Amino acid sequence: MFHILIADPISDEGLDVLYTNENVTVVKDTGLKPDELESRIPEFDALLVRSQTKVTRSIIEKAENLKIIGRAGVGVDNIDLDAATENGIIVVNAPNGNTNSAAEHTMAMIMALSRKIPQAHLALKNGKWERSEHVGVELKNKTLGIVGLGRIGTEVAYRAKGQRMNVIAYDPFLTEEKADTMGIEYGELENVLKEADYITVHTPLMKETRHMIGPEAFDLMKNSVYIINCARGGIIDEDALYDALSSGKVAGAAIDVLEEEPFQDHKLLELPQVVATPHLGASTVEAQENVAIDVCHDVLRHLTGDMVKNPVNLPAVPSDVLSQIEPYFNLAEKLGMFLIRLTDDVPEEVNIYYSGALSDVKIAPITRNAVKGLLQRHLGSRVNDVNALYLAEKKDISIHENRTSTTKGFTNLMTVEVKTKSGVRSVSGTLLNGLGARIVRVDHYSVDVMPEGHIVIIHHKDLPGVIGKMGSLLAEHDINIATMQVDRSNIGGDAIMILTIDKYAEQQELEALKELEEINAVTAMDL
Ligand code: NAD
Ligand code: MLT
Repeated sequence: MFHILIADPISDEGLDVLYTNENVTVVKDTGLKPDELESRIPEFDALLVRSQTKVTRSIIEKAENLKIIGRAGVGVDNIDLDAATENGIIVVNAPNGNTNSAAEHTMAMIMALSRKIPQAHLALKNGKWERSEHVGVELKNKTLGIVGLGRIGTEVAYRAKGQRMNVIAYDPFLTEEKADTMGIEYGELENVLKEADYITVHTPLMKETRHMIGPEAFDLMKNSVYIINCARGGIIDEDALYDALSSGKVAGAAIDVLEEEPFQDHKLLELPQVVATPHLGASTVEAQENVAIDVCHDVLRHLTGDMVKNPVNLPAVPSDVLSQIEPYFNLAEKLGMFLIRLTDDVPEEVNIYYSGALSDVKIAPITRNAVKGLLQRHLGSRVNDVNALYLAEKKDISIHENRTSTTKGFTNLMTVEVKTKSGVRSVSGTLLNGLGARIVRVDHYSVDVMPEGHIVIIHHKDLPGVIGKMGSLLAEHDINIATMQVDRSNIGGDAIMILTIDKYAEQQELEALKELEEINAVTAMDL
């Protein structure tokens, strides 16, 4: 049974996805203070939030059972992603469900600003029939500058064109060709700031975008420009905006978000030329249903061992690509687990070679599984797909992926090689059509072993009678051999024997084998 905490208000249509699942229990406790959340979090396997709850490092470090944090919405700046990744907690969001609502809200704010609707409305409600005070400006033929042309920025661009505005946009991923196709102008940030009559920001809030619209940016802008922020407080430097509004450089600003939320007595709100809403961009019935349903499905997917659709701290894998590579995840993990048992020294470098059918697929998720298998011996269940590469880096283990054309006769072949101070060890595996995973090479020995169950690897001398002696010794410990694979370097030289046995053999039960002078090393493992 998995326990899920809902810490912010989330639409019931989404929560029904959880309530109707018999494998989860749901606790809805919104508005917990940080110390309350910190003390309750160890009980839970999943945490669902919107933007109110700050999921800080200290909360994450207390969350000993937490596997997933779901954000019903786009922005994850309220979640410490580094802390989540380091602790192997996947973070998922719902990036698509509120795009329309946020774009529509942006357009509503642009119109409200241009036609002074909130100011006129307020005056009228106060019994003042004011007309000359509320003369507005048209949008037609004005230039809208968009900073950040992602999902919402793009939707805003199309809507602005519908208003017959010219659109110029800056986004590091925007090309001139794409801008042409969209019928908008491509600009660098500076061009956008200089040419636009209205500037709307739609970037995430990150180190690089914090205060990206500050005093220098305002200096570049046209006089009487309008500023809109329906993305995140902090992208615009609020002090600089206040000064620019007070001096008349900026004619008006529409703000849905501020650096500190909730906000009440902000100095920007005292200015009559500021139109503001309390972070309502995604507050529509449709958007809240969409994001809640999307995030709840992803939480269930993760808890039940399926791949999530919208990971934030793991690269997303499209479903057609996933169906191609998912069968290799288990093989990769088993190769890692197998190899690390043969390696007593600390791994310094890991090379993973992909060939045959594996040479032209997306290999990063397969690599993560191999590294997870390698690290599990020493780090246990703490390591998972989310943090495997991070933990390897922390341990100074460099990971290299290589695509090769050498298939050694297999349609697909994956080799994991570990370098330590005492040398290089490697293991190769393949997926056999209809028969599943096989280990086909251990160092330079050819074998054919299913990577599962109780396995004993014996390095020995290729001499007559060794196999018989070993069989008898194992029998004395009531260990029955299920399968046996043998290969040797040369006649009478070094050899390997890989046994699968019917029950787990303790290393000490195998100690007796080491007393045979023909045996160099014995390793037991459970895969
Ligand atoms: P998105 O990831 O689809 O788009 C963000 C775009 O910003 C990307 O194309 C990215 O390349 C671009 N970008 C990143 N750094 C940039 C930089 N330095 N300069 C210019 N562009 C840069 O995100 P989205 O879904 O479009 O959301 C945009 C913003 O809106 C986010 O901050 C999100 O949190 C916020 N949001 C607010 C509300 C609300 O209620 N007000 C609702 C939804 C989303
Ligand atoms: C988002 O990033 O999705 C919005 O800020 C909406 C919300 O607060 O949920």
